[in-house]
Amino acid sequence: MPQKKRAALRAATPDRFAMPHARTTPFAMSLTEALGHVDRVFGIDQILADEGQDILKPYYLQSEPGYKRVHSEKGCMHMALNPDGVYATDGYFTQIRNVAYQIRQVQAARVLELGSGMGFNTLSLAPDHPDVQFTGLDLMAHHVKAARKNAGHVPNLRFLQGSYFDISPDLHNADVIFALETLCYANDLDAVARQIAAAMAPGGRFVMYDGFRRADFVTAPEDVQTAARLFEVTTAVTGGFHMIEAWEAALARAGLVVLHSDDLSDQSIAGLRYLHNRAARFFHSWKYRLLRPFLPKYLIRNAVAALVGPYMIEGAGPNSGDTMGAITYSVLVAEKPR
Ligand SMILES: C[S@@+](CC[C@H](N)C(=O)[O-])C[C@H]1O[C@@H](n2cnc3c(N)ncnc32)[C@H](O)[C@@H]1O
Repeated sequence: MPQKKRAALRAATPDRFAMPHARTTPFAMSLTEALGHVDRVFGIDQILADEGQDILKPYYLQSEPGYKRVHSEKGCMHMALNPDGVYATDGYFTQIRNVAYQIRQVQAARVLELGSGMGFNTLSLAPDHPDVQFTGLDLMAHHVKAARKNAGHVPNLRFLQGSYFDISPDLHNADVIFALETLCYANDLDAVARQIAAAMAPGGRFVMYDGFRRADFVTAPEDVQTAARLFEVTTAVTGGFHMIEAWEAALARAGLVVLHSDDLSDQSIAGLRYLHNRAARFFHSWKYRLLRPFLPKYLIRNAVAALVGPYMIEGAGPNSGDTMGAITYSVLVAEKPR
């Protein structure tokens, strides 16, 4: 893109990273250095060769120990959102608080979580809402097993194995349906949107949190786009994150009314920089480099996602917001008319 046009675009981009604290965790290395490390250790082209391939099941089978021990809180498989810009594990509950708010708004009796993973979200909500029946649905048997084990004997929840491409009529009539960082794996938005709409009770709410490609993705600097594509592939989103506009349109076609969608990228920066710094230790450590050939491929590639994650949101720096990012972290809330 011509220099002038890029400068104009940058000037037109509002300061998306207004929180001063979001920048207090320094980067361990620049994007150029990060891409150099990734190329030397893994080969960027080798990683990107998986674009378009279905690696979801081997990815989650191999990544279980990484999610359990490294990524986040125990059993949690999503990003922390820290509204004050300082990383704290409380940030893993930010999305859950919004779901609790929606439950209260519609006085829900039945709640369905899509892609419930190891059960962190549903398990956090159920004890505080004893009169609400919660169901978590996940594709992977080992996630469902872990979720059931984590749940113990909480009476008002259950975890079932299944796909959001085929939601059983037994689970229909849900007052709130929510999905945290899972619908990025849907390759047919209309099909999933129809499943969601069919499973919702009239007046019910749908909440999704996820990464999304910005509508102007292709105008982001090339190295930022590469960071985004590496993040996508190394988290098994091999078709690339969807655009939020595509989800809004699919939900509308399925008969839902989009109430709002909000860009929460600035709240994700502190958590992404925290993971970036942990990953940098891996890339700097000779011990890990020696171990690398013996560790499962998809497990160890999570270090790539962690290393490049902040750059796909913030741009290539040196300060966040200096250049365009390629991805947003956003929430979308929709309603089924009565
Ligand atoms: C990044 S994890 C998020 C887990 C959970 N939502 C959380 O916040 O901890 C994505 C989850 O989506 C699940 N998943 C992927 N495709 C799915 C599908 N078609 N149906 C149901 N679950 C799916 C995966 O097995 C995985 O547990």
